[in-house]
Amino acid sequence: MSGRLAGKVCLVTGSSQGLGREFCHKLAAEGAIVVAAGRSLEKVRAVADELPAAGDADHGRHFAVALDTGDPDSVGAGVRAAEQELGRIDVLVNNAATFADLTRAPFDELTVDEWDRIMRINARGPWLTSRAVAPGMRARGCGRIINIVSATFFSGSPLWAHYVASKGAVIGLTRVMAKELGPFGICVNAVAPGFTLTEAALATMPGAESYGVDRGCIKRAEQPGDVVGIVAFLASDEAGFITGQTLIVDGGRQFI
Ligand SMILES: NC(=O)c1ccc[n+]([C@@H]2O[C@H](COP(=O)([O-])OP(=O)(O)OC[C@H]3O[C@@H](n4cnc5c(N)ncnc54)[C@H](OP(=O)(O)O)[C@@H]3O)[C@@H](O)[C@H]2O)c1
Repeated sequence: MSGRLAGKVCLVTGSSQGLGREFCHKLAAEGAIVVAAGRSLEKVRAVADELPAAGDADHGRHFAVALDTGDPDSVGAGVRAAEQELGRIDVLVNNAATFADLTRAPFDELTVDEWDRIMRINARGPWLTSRAVAPGMRARGCGRIINIVSATFFSGSPLWAHYVASKGAVIGLTRVMAKELGPFGICVNAVAPGFTLTEAALATMPGAESYGVDRGCIKRAEQPGDVVGIVAFLASDEAGFITGQTLIVDGGRQFI
């Protein structure tokens, strides 16, 4: 397959549904060989199987791998399996996170267990996966890491302290990794969607379809398709001089 990502191996965490699945489709449509990663091998294999065929000479198919982003052993094994199968990982999209099931409470009423649960998945996860792919990218002198964060970091959404802090941690990680990996030709950026109508977001509240629409410059709800283009661009060679940045994609609800 031709396209600006032709032949690039792109691993997407949390790809069983929602934005992760959409990223897999967009990257594959641009010619990438996709590694769909998630906790359920069955679910991510189904996503890999539904993607348009990759055109690489050696690998006409995408790959699926079981990977729990909060578990160092699982991350290490999953990344190794993908590298053994496809030879390398050119692009990592750190998408896996949880928000639909979190406890919403004032910051001083959150339990330590709930704080740690969210941090394990949302903050430690992107660090662990980035740590696992970095040696291969460094050795090849190129690579892209794209962290999916959240516009709630900029809005400081009340009752979401642990989620907002977890995304802030990843924005900080993005900036440090950009400096540490830049000399090896690796670009690291973050994408901050606003409230986007995935299955998980729709389940968070009644009336989700119209939530916050009045606060944006563009007066409509954000759809998954609004976020995929920037991820494909950041994965491409065209974005090779952009690093350390956090790009808000929310129809103009937040300005930095
Ligand atoms: N939708 C929004 O309004 C919105 C707004 C701003 C930012 N975001 C961010 O965009 C990303 C995707 O959001 P989404 O709406 O597509 O959410 P989603 O449908 O809940 O998908 C999140 C994915 O993360 C993985 N995940 C969930 N809990 C996990 C856990 N305990 N351990 C490891 N992986 C876990 C799951 O993958 P597996 O089941 O395959 O493991 C799941 O497919 C997240 O980083 C989210 O914070 C979303």
